[in-house]
Amino acid sequence: MAKSILVSNVLPAEALGIIPREVTVDYNDTEAGLSKTELIARLRGKDGLICHIISKIDDEVLAAAPTVKVVANVAVGYNNIDVVAARRRGVVVTNTPDVLTETTADFAWALLMATARRVVEADHFARSGQWRRWQWDLLWGADVYGKTLGVVGFGRIGRAVAHRALGFNMRVLYQDAVRADVGVERELRASRMELEPLLAEADFVSLHTPLLPETRHLINERTLRLMKKSAVLVNASRGPVVDEAALVRALKDGWIAAAGLDVFEEEPKVHPGLVPLKNVVLAPHIASASFDTRLAMATLAVRNCLAVLDGKPALTPVP
Ligand code: GLV
Repeated sequence: MAKSILVSNVLPAEALGIIPREVTVDYNDTEAGLSKTELIARLRGKDGLICHIISKIDDEVLAAAPTVKVVANVAVGYNNIDVVAARRRGVVVTNTPDVLTETTADFAWALLMATARRVVEADHFARSGQWRRWQWDLLWGADVYGKTLGVVGFGRIGRAVAHRALGFNMRVLYQDAVRADVGVERELRASRMELEPLLAEADFVSLHTPLLPETRHLINERTLRLMKKSAVLVNASRGPVVDEAALVRALKDGWIAAAGLDVFEEEPKVHPGLVPLKNVVLAPHIASASFDTRLAMATLAVRNCLAVLDGKPALTPVP
């Protein structure tokens, strides 16, 4: 029987182009995505779904779509999908690991550097017309080279972030539930630590943990107060890993020096307390947004969906 899929969010034409003609595609090409009611209505009778993280696939959506065999998320994180419910209903869930690792690590570093060296403030200043002469004490920032980097979550992206730190001659500390192989620790010159001593020692803390019940608000008032006053926090994982209200207080009252954030607790809302602060660099969840990477993610999601519809194993099912 001919198969049909719902593509609930925008995808590059090259990725859609690999879908064979005999598969019927219901494509929502609007940037806004679908409401839950629209999603449920358009999933009726479909065999598969390809979606972005803005589509919330909970048990109610899955229950209303009993013909769906696969949900292919175009992201490495999949906290938008109720994976337990999907498994119970025999629905395969896939994500897009590996293809975005380096690009996301690049962006975490872009935030780290921009925050440490005040690039956004410098840009605003240079454009503003206030720049009258070379100034000795203008926009001093923090050194990165030779400092200590703390990586929280030492999976693919966390390790790629640590790898870049070699070029900056940094000491790398990491926290993860699982210890990395000794060979990896040696290659990345990284030492495992518990979260609290890591926060106390690191000059830069970069978050790369998935959003799980145990990582929600991992960074909160108590843990922020453990960090150095000179420390910089970078978050390119998931917004709710950080208690944003506590972070606003930390940045205003000087418990830490600065933060670079790509993700927020209630995207697309940015906590209003963050907006006026100069010591925070904000980005609208774009860490994987390079031309090549977004195409690779979309292509992998399409291939995952097609594989399952063909009765084959998914290329990258969620663990
Ligand atoms: C983006 O946030 C992703 O999880 O890929």
